[in-house]
Amino acid sequence: MNATRIAFIGGGNMAAALIGGMLQNAPAGARPSIVVSEPDDERRRGLAERLDIETTADNAAALAGAQLVVLAVKPQMMQAVAEDLAPHVAAGQLVVSIAAGIPVSALQAWLDGHRAVVRAMPNTPSMVGCGATGLFAAEGVSAEQRSDAESLMRAVGVVQWLEEESQIDEITALSGSGPAYVFYLMESMQAAAEELGMEPAVARLLTLETVYGAAKLALAADESPAELRRRVSSPGGTTERAIRELDESGVREAFGRAVRASRDRSRELAAKMGESGQS
Ligand SMILES: NC(=O)c1ccc[n+]([C@@H]2O[C@H](COP(=O)([O-])OP(=O)(O)OC[C@H]3O[C@@H](n4cnc5c(N)ncnc54)[C@H](OP(=O)(O)O)[C@@H]3O)[C@@H](O)[C@H]2O)c1
Repeated sequence: MNATRIAFIGGGNMAAALIGGMLQNAPAGARPSIVVSEPDDERRRGLAERLDIETTADNAAALAGAQLVVLAVKPQMMQAVAEDLAPHVAAGQLVVSIAAGIPVSALQAWLDGHRAVVRAMPNTPSMVGCGATGLFAAEGVSAEQRSDAESLMRAVGVVQWLEEESQIDEITALSGSGPAYVFYLMESMQAAAEELGMEPAVARLLTLETVYGAAKLALAADESPAELRRRVSSPGGTTERAIRELDESGVREAFGRAVRASRDRSRELAAKMGESGQS
């Protein structure tokens, strides 16, 4: 991390996860100084005690001296927050927004034409350090600033840079909405096991451990998930019979339609937000 001072605007769940991850990963003696601006008194006290960082209720004051500014408020708050900050943002500051669905052009317009903006699209497993984040940098972002945005998001998981901002819609459909697809799979597996007569607690534990174990195995293996699946599907066996049911039920095609629907909805929402950035 090149930045020696980082300001977070909004001290909610995502900000706390990012700060926790950064402080854990920072080499000894190279811990950046961190300030969080957050309106809620109790949350401010909690953050200061738990993470040993500065806090304030004054967004504009938090910006002073920071090279990196992280906008971590809910999307619906973003326009008001960015417009209030606009007169206080310095030319050399990098602004990273983690808000879902808000295009760089809208952020730049609300920040009075500030150029150095990075848009990040993290997902909920970031809260446990296993996130997947897509990053897109506006033209005015320097190599050093790109590296800082990357270090910030690496604190909570893996990072993928995007060439085009429109690719954020694909990231949203895969890793953004993806945890919900896996929860849906878990729900379905657990319900099916309970229908077979398994105790709910046992069905839950075995479902979660199976999904976790399969993901860990797939990450460790050189083979593709398709190959791993073939290896556990002996001809004439139980798994082969189960997979045939899934194929005949059109589950693969349903996944295709679901991911496309999420991508299309992300495009629609971005178009709406883009229009509000032009107003
Ligand atoms: N959580 C995730 O996994 C995830 C994934 C992808 C993207 N994101 C994005 O990350 C952003 C933050 O999400 P989150 O889950 O951390 O939400 P959150 O827990 O609600 O955090 C937002 C924080 O901002 C504070 N806030 C509200 N108005 C403010 C203002 N005017 N100035 C400064 N701070 C203000 C809120 O305080 P009050 O509670 O007092 O209002 C709250 O503590 C969102 O834009 C979301 O789209 C989150």
